[in-house]
Amino acid sequence: MERINNAEELKNLRERLKRKTLNADSKMVRICCGTACSAQGSHKIVQAFEEESALKGMDIEVVRTGCQGLCQKGPVMRTEPSGYFYQRVTHERVSEIISKTFSAGVPVRKLLYRESPVEGPIEKMEDLPFYKKQVRIVLRNNGFIDP
Ligand code: FES
Repeated sequence: MERINNAEELKNLRERLKRKTLNADSKMVRICCGTACSAQGSHKIVQAFEEESALKGMDIEVVRTGCQGLCQKGPVMRTEPSGYFYQRVTHERVSEIISKTFSAGVPVRKLLYRESPVEGPIEKMEDLPFYKKQVRIVLRNNGFIDP
């Protein structure tokens, strides 16, 4: 993580983040580096993403996140702007993720979440039952919906 030493650096960071946020085409991967995912190799995935994207000349921002909640499916990650959620990722799959998701714009089907082996894959994080449930709990706790 970048250290901010003065007001000028803070201003520059703010401008950079604003440009990135407003650019819907910015490529980004949010890799979980929580305890469970780290124990299963997420730092190797981060390193592989940084090396592979540089090798392929692609501008992909690699963001390390805290626990994303689905530890038993880790290491997990989300890609932007596509919003694909990948589970049980290994560093060996990084090249495939870059070429399919970031170059061709399609998901790596084998890494998508499935409720069971017989059900179809779920592509987007917000469509996963686990995250839908979390949103419902927050809405209920804040009085937006009935219990
Ligand atoms: S540690 Fe990665 S999802 Fe919890």
